[in-house]
Amino acid sequence: MCGWIMLWTAAVCLCLCVCSLAGPIPVHRGVSEHSKLLLVSFDGFRWDYDRDVDTPHLDAMAKDGVKATYVTPAFLTVTSPTHFTILTGKYIENHGVIHNMWFNSSTWEKKSYYKSQFVNEWWDNGSLPIWITAQRQGLKAGSLHFPGTASTYQGESAVVREVEPENYNYSNETAWQENIDKVMKSWFREQDLDFVSMYFGEPDSTGHKYGPDSPQRRTMVQQVDRTVGYLRSAAEKNGLSERLNIIITADHGMSTVYRNGLVDEIILSKIPGFSFRDLDFHIVDFGPAGLLLPKEGRLDKVFNALKGAHPHLHVYKKEEIPAHLHYSHNDRILPIILWADPGYVINGYFPVQFHKGEHGYDNQALDMKPFFRATGPDFQKNLEVGPFETVNIYPLMCHLLKITPEPNDGHLNATRHMLTSSIQTENEGSSGDDILSSVFIGLGSVAGFLVIVFVVLLSRGIHKRRRNKSRSTDEGEIDKCHTETKQTTF
Ligand SMILES: *[C@@H]1O[C@H](CO)[C@@H](O)[C@H](O)[C@H]1NC(C)=O
Ligand SMILES: *[C@@H]1O[C@H](CO)[C@@H](O)[C@H](O)[C@H]1NC(C)=O
Ligand SMILES: *[C@@H]1O[C@H](CO)[C@@H](O)[C@H](O)[C@H]1NC(C)=O
Ligand SMILES: *[C@@H]1O[C@H](CO)[C@@H](O)[C@H](O)[C@H]1NC(C)=O
Ligand SMILES: *[C@@H]1O[C@H](CO)[C@@H](O)[C@H](O)[C@H]1NC(C)=O
Ligand SMILES: [Zn+2]
Repeated sequence: MCGWIMLWTAAVCLCLCVCSLAGPIPVHRGVSEHSKLLLVSFDGFRWDYDRDVDTPHLDAMAKDGVKATYVTPAFLTVTSPTHFTILTGKYIENHGVIHNMWFNSSTWEKKSYYKSQFVNEWWDNGSLPIWITAQRQGLKAGSLHFPGTASTYQGESAVVREVEPENYNYSNETAWQENIDKVMKSWFREQDLDFVSMYFGEPDSTGHKYGPDSPQRRTMVQQVDRTVGYLRSAAEKNGLSERLNIIITADHGMSTVYRNGLVDEIILSKIPGFSFRDLDFHIVDFGPAGLLLPKEGRLDKVFNALKGAHPHLHVYKKEEIPAHLHYSHNDRILPIILWADPGYVINGYFPVQFHKGEHGYDNQALDMKPFFRATGPDFQKNLEVGPFETVNIYPLMCHLLKITPEPNDGHLNATRHMLTSSIQTENEGSSGDDILSSVFIGLGSVAGFLVIVFVVLLSRGIHKRRRNKSRSTDEGEIDKCHTETKQTTF
């Protein structure tokens, strides 16, 4: 009697074992399957902003994922160019969005940061942002307020997008939460988007207005921190935590500007031998960097007048600019490039800039480095990594989404060590997934076989004992069988 029960048990055991051990096959993501990805930028969030403020939610995120000491943005360290580097993996000279402002040096026309968002020819200069690449490979992308969202690329844009209204209030926390709810519930859960980029205009605005060392900036960092907590619990609430990777970073940092007689300000019109009459066009009075187009035949005159004129002013001919800045090989970059050391800005005729904080400096300056955090199923936990350049975020995102990247200036090598081992080497040569599946199938079969052997031996043992113990009842044996069965299926 118990023999038949044993056979049944063996069959059930086999099923359970194979199912539980080989379970990872259906659950385990195939080569084409991927987690969803959310890219968040908090404009101007410097790498060390969490050092003088309590940031429990950012700390929790670091514990649950990866934190980089800092990342190095592309030069010019200003908003639209550096965000487009994150979206394309290219240095600014290679993607063509070389300034926050669209300009035409022959007509002297310039457009503001906001108006420039809508100039397609400015953004669509031969490089595709990740939204388009993802969509061409069958994924669905969305973007909320991220720089570059308003333009089209070869006629295409993110399928779901929301462009920032003009004169948008960047600091309204209620609006931030509403946008997060929209992205998590409507975009990721209901519309099943695979990739979303999301942008917040703080703490940049507060950093400009009050300076990076101000109490106002620290208060705004607390608001960012609360928002990170809100975002992660919104992901949880919408059942996304297990299949959503989240990358949070920024476009550049922020540095205190000194004025009011504290420093010898840089005012170009006061520099001996320099005259605006020698220029056809210029962009100055825009933070620490400037671009000049000298009149025909006057390049050397302008260059020689400015070079060495102020100890904190850097003056370069376009083709001689230091290689690490990657800001040379593009027709849109003007022939002379100026930038100031941290603490200074470049003024044209007289000082007209009143920001207490600025960015746009050399990307080697520590004050220009943004923060970087990542969590999700494909990232390691409680891992702090060293610095890397933001051109590498694009190949990382493509790898996470399992799409083929466009040619770019980054490499997965820079970030691969952040990933869990199962996704580290995927898409490269032989597929790691296939090997893993085989291992699981192999383990499943071996375990199943061992269970059969074990149950058969066990049943023989029980038979023997039953023969010896003539008084025991069938019921007792069944109970005993159950107990043993439970122990074997762990
Ligand atoms: C600048 O404007 C001139 C005159 O309208 C035009 O010929 C030229 O193509 C424009 N250049 C750019 C880069 O838009
Ligand atoms: C990029 O823009 C420049 C002018 O600003 C233009 O001459 C060039 O053709 C554009 N390239 C592409 C691929 O759009
Ligand atoms: C923006 O919103 C915040 C809070 O929601 C408010 O305190 C602030 O005054 C607003 N700013 C402007 C310029 O309306
Ligand atoms: C902040 O945003 C909420 C939600 O969008 C809105 O109802 C409120 O009026 C805004 N507050 C300010 C001060 O702009
Ligand atoms: C990436 O790392 C591998 C292994 O360390 C190395 O062989 C390869 O050359 C690296 N590639 C780049 C572009 O750094
Ligand atoms: Zn910015």
